Amino acid sequence: MTEANSLGEWQPDRNLAMELVRATEAAAMRATPWVGRGDKNAADGAAVDAMRRFLSTVNMTGTVVIGEGEKDDAPWLYNGEVVGNGLGADCDVAVDPIDGTRLAAEGRAGALSVIAVADRGSMYDPSAVFYMDKLVCGPEGVGVVDIDRPIGDNIRALAKAKGVDVSDIRVAVLDRPRHDQLIADIREAGAGTRLIMDGDVAGGVNAARWDSRVDLCVGIGGTPEGIITACAVKALGGVIQGRLWPKDDEERARAIDAGHDLSRVLEANDLVSSDNAYFVATGITSADFVEGVQRRGPFLRAESIVMRSYSGTIRHITSDMDPSRWD
Ligand code: FBP
Repeated sequence: MTEANSLGEWQPDRNLAMELVRATEAAAMRATPWVGRGDKNAADGAAVDAMRRFLSTVNMTGTVVIGEGEKDDAPWLYNGEVVGNGLGADCDVAVDPIDGTRLAAEGRAGALSVIAVADRGSMYDPSAVFYMDKLVCGPEGVGVVDIDRPIGDNIRALAKAKGVDVSDIRVAVLDRPRHDQLIADIREAGAGTRLIMDGDVAGGVNAARWDSRVDLCVGIGGTPEGIITACAVKALGGVIQGRLWPKDDEERARAIDAGHDLSRVLEANDLVSSDNAYFVATGITSADFVEGVQRRGPFLRAESIVMRSYSGTIRHITSDMDPSRWD
């Protein structure tokens, strides 16, 4: 986005994501001593504390709309908490200090620290239903895939649009019993699966990136993760479609009472209506598009991806920090 200055010259505006990345870096680095230690709560607590401290420096008046839970359960980064330094624009803030807490605790690949930010009031309210059935892919899938069609049809259509053989298509799916039939159908269609133990934000981002070995991410995962992924997809230019997936009759009844149409397919603009959305993620353990935090001599090295939907800018940032200089 550009604006004219007093001389009528163009002038670039600020990119909030360049400030937000400090918070995901801090969360990833502070969670690192807990990687592989089998203690999810300790890893998450370290990430939450660091993310919150760094968010307080960011030039925005943010309200957490996707956070660590309700205030009674979550001391920090709870839904409704106001974050940022209060000097900038009003924003919706979605945080996942660790997406893939179990991955981090067990020392497995794919754990990320993630923040998404968009104009205030523009993120879908995910509180009604915890799960969402999702389909994510890159720009070649625009106008081609449709969550209402059988997975085999979508795989064939996407392969054609990409100009590749169906056997070249890789589909990321959370490895859960609820996906047994979906996994069988993907393989029956002639495509391959990338089964992920956790972390479907990384799965979705991988599906939408042009330089990834994953073409599609499908299946039922968290609704909050779907909204966060939508911010990335808006920058990457791909497709995200989702439909709320109540886990039981009680959740279904509550969602209907709250006015949700459970048959509705939610597209990227329904999940995040703003055209100015930011997505930042830092690897805690290695994901395809970022390495996990590494030791390099006296330094810790963190790799991040930083995206802005308005400009479509995707940055890869590597930071070396010396923990002996931290307080
Ligand atoms: P957290 O580690 O942030 O709790 O989430 C991990 C995750 O795998 C998400 O990426 C995914 O959307 C969700 O959990 C899936 O839920 P479930 O484990 O109940 O299938």
